[in-house]
Amino acid sequence: MVPGVLNPRAGRTADAVPAGTPVTTAAGSVVVEGVSKLYASTDGEPSWALLNVSLDIRPGEFLCAIGPSGCGKTTLLNMIAGFTAPTRGSVLFDGRPIAGPGPDQGVVFQEYALFPWLTAQRNVEFGLQMRGVAKAERRERARASLDMVGLLGAADRYPFELSGGMRQRVAVARALVNHPRILLMDEPFAAVDALTRVTLQTELLRIWQEIGLTVFFITHNIEEAVFLGDRIVVMASRPGRIQRIVENPLPRPRDRGEGAFGALYAEVNEAFLRQGS
Ligand SMILES: Nc1ncnc2c1ncn2[C@@H]1O[C@H](COP(=O)(O)OP(=O)(O)OP(=O)(O)O)[C@@H](O)[C@H]1O
Ligand SMILES: [Mg+2]
Repeated sequence: MVPGVLNPRAGRTADAVPAGTPVTTAAGSVVVEGVSKLYASTDGEPSWALLNVSLDIRPGEFLCAIGPSGCGKTTLLNMIAGFTAPTRGSVLFDGRPIAGPGPDQGVVFQEYALFPWLTAQRNVEFGLQMRGVAKAERRERARASLDMVGLLGAADRYPFELSGGMRQRVAVARALVNHPRILLMDEPFAAVDALTRVTLQTELLRIWQEIGLTVFFITHNIEEAVFLGDRIVVMASRPGRIQRIVENPLPRPRDRGEGAFGALYAEVNEAFLRQGS
């Protein structure tokens, strides 16, 4: 892997770094200030998907969000991605209001969302092609990105020839190929088996450490959040809001069997269960 090809902002090493270690890149910060989102529902009763949410995502941070179904996690991610705008309040990305989606915000969804008629390589190249990047550069960047997720050998395979875990790796490669400043992940590993999920988590941490980007990662799984996050945002529903933000000082690589891991799991679980209080 040639980090400079994949991400010009590369600079961090693959070595284990303690949680909260400052990163070299200054980009990738998000400031969510007093954000509310009102949706009209089919029964005509409007509801607050988010109410007065404020949150800073620090440059280079791995931030996890957890909360019950319907608490507004995806709504929040969609705002940072530029897919939807707040009803009230503001969302700033590196100091500027978000005008819409763009290559700086890489998004990975739960469903693989790959084009079935394109090979892995062509799927990864697609966004670059749409932006008019020349063929040779497109190809080189897509290959570097596939290499990063360990799938260079499967570049010419179609999605139906790939396992669920491999497809999700392609989705990650497709987001990384644009050299995003933030990676927005909405339950990206929810559909894969438990063992593959653990492998993908470890690979994602390696990539995050190697290329130094900010990650906003939504999950329903407390263990996943404690394994991955520098901080864990625990959300509550009706209306969607932040219940608590839990700092995660555990050094990496983290050991799920350790007492400190279990203690943090219990802390997040307690905040999760104390919904509505
Ligand atoms: N486009 C929409 N129109 C109307 N209501 C919406 C829309 N999108 C989301 N909502 C509502 O806003 C609330 C928050 O939805 P959101 O998808 O953000 O929740 P979530 O926390 O991601 O849930 P899940 O864990 O199930 O994915 C829900 O009550 C949902 O029904
Ligand atoms: Mg969601």
